[in-house]
Amino acid sequence: MFESPPAASHPDKGRSVRAMFDAIAPRYDLANAVLSAGADRGWRRAAVDAAWAKGPRDLLDVATGTADLALALARGRPEARVRGVDFAEAMLEVGRRKVARAGAQVALDVGDGTDLPYADASFDAVTIAFGLRNFADPDAGLREFRRVLRPGGRAVVLEFPPPPRGAFGAAFRLYFTQVLPRLGGALSGNRAAYAYLPASAMAFPPPHELAGRMRAAGFDDVVWTPLTFGVAALHVADVAPATAARPPRQEPA
Ligand SMILES: C[S@@+](CC[C@H](N)C(=O)[O-])C[C@H]1O[C@@H](n2cnc3c(N)ncnc32)[C@H](O)[C@@H]1O
Repeated sequence: MFESPPAASHPDKGRSVRAMFDAIAPRYDLANAVLSAGADRGWRRAAVDAAWAKGPRDLLDVATGTADLALALARGRPEARVRGVDFAEAMLEVGRRKVARAGAQVALDVGDGTDLPYADASFDAVTIAFGLRNFADPDAGLREFRRVLRPGGRAVVLEFPPPPRGAFGAAFRLYFTQVLPRLGGALSGNRAAYAYLPASAMAFPPPHELAGRMRAAGFDDVVWTPLTFGVAALHVADVAPATAARPPRQEPA
């Protein structure tokens, strides 16, 4: 067994999050598909479309886990150079087997999203699906995404925000806090991990606040879209293109 990670940002959160994902890695994909009733595939599709919109060549999927989003980014795009990075080795191991089975060109690296092992301006697009909520310091992660992006680059963040208001939100909250931990626990053998999921979503900033934090991290233009009545949210943040160097001023003779 492992301790359940703190729901909100906390200096010790990384260590317990990594242990939790290492423990549930073998059943993670199954639990994901069942608990979201397959909706996660459509959400990842929306993230892939947003990431591809500006024709990137070098793409990085942070907190790639078992590599579903990295594989979806690479599918049918032989020109793309796709990397995934995650700090949980057991999740990456499942991902490596899936990459090999698919015969895909996806490189998977071990690394922390708050201290990425890449040089400045290495990528045209950075994606993250259901990862940022787990970071000990999400703002440090956002600054890292900005640092590794080139001018004109784009970050795409797919995440569970706090559940929406209204009747649908109330019904979803009931499912999220009462049904999902039991079902996820039965599927993965680890109920604490699936009690942490709603707790961490409820502790995460609402979409408008996350958009502000992305701007504060250095992104020039941020838009967000609710998915499935606000169960998930997709943030798309752009870096301004490089401005051409100005010609030297001509001094009058
Ligand atoms: C809910 S899973 C999502 C995996 C995958 N992106 C997906 O959509 O299925 C969260 C992943 O984030 C990873 N993670 C959490 N915090 C991280 C960090 N600071 N650096 C790297 N990976 C991290 C975990 O190891 C885990 O694989």
